[in-house]
Amino acid sequence: MMLIEFCYALVFIFCALFAVLKWNNIRYSRKGMPPGSLGWPFVGETLQFLTQGPDFMKGCRLRYGNLFKTHALGSPIVVSMDPDTNRYILLNEAKGLVPGYPDSMRKILGTNIAEVHGAVHKRIRGSLLSLIGPMAVKDRLLPEVDEFMRSYLDNWDGKIVDLQEKTVEMAFFISMKAVVESEPHSFLESFKATFDKMAVGTISLPFKIPGTEYYRGIKAREKVLTMLRELIAKRRASSATHDDILEHLIRNEDGKHKLDDEEIMEQIITILYSGYETVSTTTMMSIKYLCDNPNFLEAVRDEHFAILQKKLPGERINWDDYKNMSQTRAVILETMRLASVVSGVMRRTTNDIELNGFMIPKGWRVYVYTRETNLDPILYEEPLTFNPRRWLEKGLETHNHNMLFGAGGRVCPGKEWGMLKISLFIHYFVTRYRWEEAEGNKKLMKFPRVLAPKGLHIKITKY
Ligand code: HEM
Repeated sequence: MMLIEFCYALVFIFCALFAVLKWNNIRYSRKGMPPGSLGWPFVGETLQFLTQGPDFMKGCRLRYGNLFKTHALGSPIVVSMDPDTNRYILLNEAKGLVPGYPDSMRKILGTNIAEVHGAVHKRIRGSLLSLIGPMAVKDRLLPEVDEFMRSYLDNWDGKIVDLQEKTVEMAFFISMKAVVESEPHSFLESFKATFDKMAVGTISLPFKIPGTEYYRGIKAREKVLTMLRELIAKRRASSATHDDILEHLIRNEDGKHKLDDEEIMEQIITILYSGYETVSTTTMMSIKYLCDNPNFLEAVRDEHFAILQKKLPGERINWDDYKNMSQTRAVILETMRLASVVSGVMRRTTNDIELNGFMIPKGWRVYVYTRETNLDPILYEEPLTFNPRRWLEKGLETHNHNMLFGAGGRVCPGKEWGMLKISLFIHYFVTRYRWEEAEGNKKLMKFPRVLAPKGLHIKITKY
């Protein structure tokens, strides 16, 4: 009798253990889903995803192919590495593939552009394009970026600077100046400190417990909103005229939909957040790659001196000059590709969807993982070599498989503004200075974010 009971208990424990281990597979099991493992209950494969990063993704691709399922950061995810499928996903929001960024990002950023769809998205996107799109860059933003870079890159001779810190500061203040043209530097500094806490919280586990980055991010959001509310109130009460984004948002020249203060604040947060890390990291990595590849540095330098030669001393850079910076543009695109400044973009299914013959259930995340396509030897010969020349060939920048700035209805509206900022940073940097990497820790992290954990220190001398 005792033996039978013992056997039952053993079978029960074994079944329970099996059920726990396979809980994710049981819970999410549906017919026709892509291959892959959903890992442990609740945590899935988060640990491997975060610690092994791109190697974990490569391993899954080898085992399961270009479309596989996993479970990370609290959600089942389908990862796509096939360029055509990626394009299909980004072009078919209307079929139920809407932006699906992590909860921490959604809760801290609020009702930002990624949270709205259909007609509301169209309206907000149109408004953003009129503020920061290519026409706005040409007509309004270019002189401002030129003036900023000119003075920002003044007096660096003889210094050792942390390029990471400098490019982060540059990327934030230049957007902030476009939003509010005449606030004192002390305000910008304290706003940046708060905004940075908020931005860090967007990439964290969403546990609202004091002491966590997420908690600090939520608190920082409240403070950011208070500071913006005060700015808007001050501006509404003032009779002075301004030519900045805040003024355009308050006046709302499009006229049809008058924005309330909440909507104005969400748009400002979207502008400051979207063009922050993308611009700072690409600028830092462009300078790093130029330093490591002196032949391309010479080509870029020649390009910028040729522009200067045609100008009077101190004359502004204009749209034609910017359009002539083709070597620089190639360096920036190659930097984005090789450093994988953006590893991919996230979507969420709003209904069951068929993708490449597989079934993706409603509510799953879809990770359009572009990092692997950026390094695809069929698309980019010798993909691990820094070779900006490839971008000078006609058609690569507009190629369907180039998704450095996304694709479809959500393709980056700030592309030209971002490219301009990085190009003019490079312009003033290479025409004024030589530099070499200073002694110290030169480690660079490439996943989940491109980062120099101890900074990237460079020694600068006058050119
Ligand atoms: C130069 C570096 C930049 C890179 C690599 C970059 C990359 C991207 C990518 C990949 C997307 C698509 C996201 C998706 O499909 O979910 C995107 C969207 C977006 N970007 Fe950029 N971006 C850059 C600069 C900027 C700048 C300077 C702004 C200025 C505000 C900006 C604003 C936005 C906005 C608002 C969206 C969302 C568009 C929508 O949902 O309709 N970006 N960007």
